[in-house]
Amino acid sequence: MSTVLSVSGSPSPTSRTGRLLRHLDARLTARGHRVIPLDVRTIPADALLGADFRHPAIVEATELFARADGVVVGTPVYKAAYSGLLKSLLDLLPQYALTDKAVLPLATGGTTAHVLAIDYALRPVLSSMGASHILPGWFTLDKDITVTEDGTVSVADASAEALAQVVDAFSTALHQRAAASTTVLAAAG
Ligand SMILES: Cc1cc2nc3c(=O)[nH]c(=O)nc-3n(C[C@H](O)[C@H](O)[C@H](O)COP(=O)(O)O)c2cc1C
Repeated sequence: MSTVLSVSGSPSPTSRTGRLLRHLDARLTARGHRVIPLDVRTIPADALLGADFRHPAIVEATELFARADGVVVGTPVYKAAYSGLLKSLLDLLPQYALTDKAVLPLATGGTTAHVLAIDYALRPVLSSMGASHILPGWFTLDKDITVTEDGTVSVADASAEALAQVVDAFSTALHQRAAASTTVLAAAG
């Protein structure tokens, strides 16, 4: 079973990005993965802003990245890029914290003018952290995400199918990597 770290980089307590990720976590769980949610906003601000690498919450987050086989990186688009909150955590991780991991980048935003923010802003950062397998991501308009009073999340048809496809491609990549490492271990004896 692969372990997936599902990271939401929104500072909002009612984050649509966070809700969307938790909604997608269920699809990954149903496909046989163990999903660990991480909302960056729950990490103490003094640790993030003070670059306190030794803070227990930063140490724990670093270990969660290290143990994950795959990472979902979700961010709202703020000022045409990823959130500062997400970057504040990524800056405290080891340079190559994403080496050998499958990575699924996701974004939410208010305008299709920034639909490419994943590719021109987030993807280069993930790549610089050693991620060799960054899957095609998806940008979802905030108006296409509906959260009911009981917390149920629904996504408009325009995005739901594409999200399902990128999540399933991520899941397939994780299963393939698990099978390949089992083969290598078996060959090693
Ligand atoms: C400070 C701020 C800046 C934003 N800048 C952009 C932007 O440049 N482009 C865009 O498409 N949406 C922008 N938005 C809209 C958010 O990306 C969008 O509402 C997103 O779904 C919010 O996600 P969240 O609820 O997880 O924080 C901005 C929102 C805020 C609060």
